[in-house]
Amino acid sequence: MDPAKAAENAILEHLQSHDEIPDSQKFAASSGFDHGVVENVVKSLCGSRTIEANEIKEERWALTDEGKSYVDSGSPEVQFFRALPSEGEILMKDLEKKLDPTVYKVGPSAAVVNKWVTMRKEKREVRGSTKPETIVYVSRKINDVEDKVKDLLQKVEAGEAVDEKDVDALKRRKLVIPQTWRGYSIRKGPEYVLVREKAATDLTREHIQRGDWKQLKFKEYNLSAQVQPIQIGYVQPLLEVKEEIQNIFLQMGFEEMPTNNYVESSFWNFDALFQPQQHPARDSHDTFFLKVPSTTRQLPEDYLERVKQVHQSGGYGSKGYEYDWKRDEAEKNLLRTHTTAVSTRMLYKLAQQKSFVPKRYFSIDRVFRNEAVDRTHLAEFHQIEGLICDRGLTLGDLLGVLEDFFSRLGMTKLRFKPAYNPYTEPSMEIFSYHDGLKKWVEVGNSGMFRPEMLLPMGLPEDVNVIAWGLSLERPTMILYGIDNIRDLFGHKVDFDVIKNNPLCRLGLQ
Ligand code: PHE
Repeated sequence: MDPAKAAENAILEHLQSHDEIPDSQKFAASSGFDHGVVENVVKSLCGSRTIEANEIKEERWALTDEGKSYVDSGSPEVQFFRALPSEGEILMKDLEKKLDPTVYKVGPSAAVVNKWVTMRKEKREVRGSTKPETIVYVSRKINDVEDKVKDLLQKVEAGEAVDEKDVDALKRRKLVIPQTWRGYSIRKGPEYVLVREKAATDLTREHIQRGDWKQLKFKEYNLSAQVQPIQIGYVQPLLEVKEEIQNIFLQMGFEEMPTNNYVESSFWNFDALFQPQQHPARDSHDTFFLKVPSTTRQLPEDYLERVKQVHQSGGYGSKGYEYDWKRDEAEKNLLRTHTTAVSTRMLYKLAQQKSFVPKRYFSIDRVFRNEAVDRTHLAEFHQIEGLICDRGLTLGDLLGVLEDFFSRLGMTKLRFKPAYNPYTEPSMEIFSYHDGLKKWVEVGNSGMFRPEMLLPMGLPEDVNVIAWGLSLERPTMILYGIDNIRDLFGHKVDFDVIKNNPLCRLGLQ
């Protein structure tokens, strides 16, 4: 018979004549069932309310392998004692050959402490050596001994109560170890029967046709059963955090900008942002330039002319950079190095409208930089960018919106440090105090776009733009406790980590 069925029969039979099975482990041991099988049967019988079971959990002592070996052949001190002749002495050395190494190691000292044996030492001259040799003789002091250690071990094995002092002594000798013991006490349930009828799990067409569904017993729904994990696609942590941040921007009344162009021209990525053509960021060491197509075809000509002028000779109250601006340089295609290129395109579009409308824009998308890859840097990452374009904005507005935005991410303690960007003035780096790391960490960059950038677009003079940017990877790594960016993004990401990651909610700490 199937062992589960046999165990079920045994339990139900036992309960017919007894009130209780007090201990499923003992029951399993005495009736020759594996306790794992009994446990499953208990759960199933509880499900049909045939029995009621209470879980019992206890710290118990179990024998170590050494402990078990002494239950069979006696404690080492008794084995040692028994190896001695009933009268007279024996050479220790001779015993070494006779006894098991562990018995020879532990037995003698324990036997001496118990005052069972006497040791007599004798010095003997050794021929050819100046040092005398010590030889040891052993003899019995008493006729017979009791093996208390073995008795104790047997009691522990049988789960009987043992004095705490004795357990301590066994523990010190590493003969017993603590073990968590789990089992059930079992009684009859409200639906108790000696032989459980197999409950039907499905109502079929045949049941209805034959009409036997009326007599059938159906299995009850177990609403607390654990379900199988569902094998579906899992959202990458970066995408999860991205969505949370999108929601934060939407709640703050921002519109998302279209960022679906990784390839950008130098004009929109740099020139329109008043970033001079000799700027080190425009070096191929920092930027990926495209080979095919290497240049862009279309640029807005009149705007390009104004950008050229502002670089070369200034205007709008600026001196410009006073260098020879080259169209070739502006036409070079690249992988965008920041999403500020997108913001620039959007602001230019806004400036082309008949009358000015204030806007709040955001974007979260990929950018590329020709950087050495290490634990915290990849050659591509995601940038989060927010901007507000309105009349009369001040640095105070920027500070206010940053406090609001970052506090929604759970960063309430902020500090700002003056910084430099070619396209913003003033510019500020943003630091947040990290309670876990107990230090200030840089979380972003921000500023007010320069008139040299905004006025050539055609925006009204009293319109200001406050903006900030940060990486998506940095807060995600902090939130998920990931310290190597390659574990978060790229081909080395472990799928199990993605499947098993708990949801991380921003702003909740
Ligand atoms: N573009 C900046 C960067 O790459 C971020 C930034 C955006 C700074 C907007 C100021 C204003 O880090």
